[in-house]
Amino acid sequence: MPSIYIETYGCQMNVSDSELMYGKLQAEGYVATDTPVGADVVLINTCAIRENAEQRVIGRLGELRRDLKPGAVLGVTGCMAQRLGPRLLETDTRVQLVVGPDSYRMLPSLIDGARNGERFSATDFDLEEHYEDFSARRFEGVKAWIPVQRGCDYRCTYCIVPTTRGPERSRKLAEVVRETHEVVAQGITEVVLLGQTVNSYNDGTHDFADLLRAVGAVDGIRRVRYTSPHPNDFSDRVIAAMAETPTVCEHVHLPMQSGSTSMLKRMLRRYSREEDLECVARLRAAMPGLGLTTDIIVGFPGETDEEFEDTLSLCREVRFDDAFTFKFSAREGTPATRMPPEWTIPEAVVDARYDALVATVRGISREKNMARLGERMEVLVEKEARKGELFQARSRDFKTVLVPGTPESIGTYMTVELTGTTGATFTGTPVQERAPLPMAG
Ligand code: SAH
Ligand code: SF4
Ligand code: F3S
Repeated sequence: MPSIYIETYGCQMNVSDSELMYGKLQAEGYVATDTPVGADVVLINTCAIRENAEQRVIGRLGELRRDLKPGAVLGVTGCMAQRLGPRLLETDTRVQLVVGPDSYRMLPSLIDGARNGERFSATDFDLEEHYEDFSARRFEGVKAWIPVQRGCDYRCTYCIVPTTRGPERSRKLAEVVRETHEVVAQGITEVVLLGQTVNSYNDGTHDFADLLRAVGAVDGIRRVRYTSPHPNDFSDRVIAAMAETPTVCEHVHLPMQSGSTSMLKRMLRRYSREEDLECVARLRAAMPGLGLTTDIIVGFPGETDEEFEDTLSLCREVRFDDAFTFKFSAREGTPATRMPPEWTIPEAVVDARYDALVATVRGISREKNMARLGERMEVLVEKEARKGELFQARSRDFKTVLVPGTPESIGTYMTVELTGTTGATFTGTPVQERAPLPMAG
């Protein structure tokens, strides 16, 4: 049987797509391998979000040229494939297949053609495509990624995703619930619902609030998460569904990008600093103790010192548990590239702002984490930690806690006391949950 190896870059959506591609190709008679060396088919599932994401893939394709066995099929899938299409076939003569995110259904036949020496690019969008008949081959045994929406209808001026993923469309609620039952049957108790603006989910009949309640009620599910919501799509219905569904975890990853209203306007984020803060206030009022993380971009065209200061002050005001910070990267064809060239921020300024932002974010994170030592919480053991004999576990509010355990602990829940922190992650000691004492007399 021919073997298939898929290497994945980028976000969870790509991880989930790779699971679908593996599932489809296995059903067609391929066996999955965990190395490109000796594989009959090698697919690189790529990301295009920032220049360096694409550079990594180009570097990797160069390495693979040397590792591939003669006659092996090399294909590029995902967002970079969609963005560059046939251009990739021209620039890298070893690449035989370029397949965008809505064309994975064609993979078996495209691979057959490639094995006969042909070269193809398939990058049409398909607004009906959700790969409902594919059954994902999941790599994580503890939590399941479940795509609920593909594409994006926002047009943030820095972002390539609308180009690479096409228009927004939602899966039917019943299909998402069906898949949730399937993962429970596989022994998985946590699901992560995926979409670019996942809380704008709407299948024509149901909104995201309905979806949270339906998935959260599936027997055997203990934790429901989702990523990434857009601040504009947090209706009161969604917040209430979150707060009232016990399985939905007390964590929101809320990408804010900037704390400056004028900057948010240039980014076309469609909310102001005040609306953002109001959204946080509504979330926290409904769920005290909510874990809150975000994404922030520095060095967007025209960013003034004042605007950057507003981002720092937003971080101090909200006090995020953590933030993913990015230096602006100009993406071909996005509206940001058409802004006046004099708006480009010099690299040294971007670097200095980036360092200041990271220091601010880390400082707040450390303070918040130190204050939590001694707290008791339930964690789900996910995997072996990178070093030592500890295992990596996660709290409902998305804290990483290193705990003692055995390989059998993976996938189990335990109650721990937080005994130490690096500032970013915790160590925890299992505690026996004491049964209430019988009443005397
Ligand atoms: N759909 C999600 C974001 C997906 S991209 C949302 O709207 O929140 C993940 C993050 O990458 C974004 O939140 C943004 O912070 C960052 N990002 C996107 N495009 C970028 C660019 N051109 N340069 C730098 N960072 C970018
Ligand atoms: Fe990109 Fe904006 Fe869509 Fe997120 S909402 S994927 S940042 S265009
Ligand atoms: Fe990258 Fe595409 Fe995800 S550009 S971040 S892999 S949607």
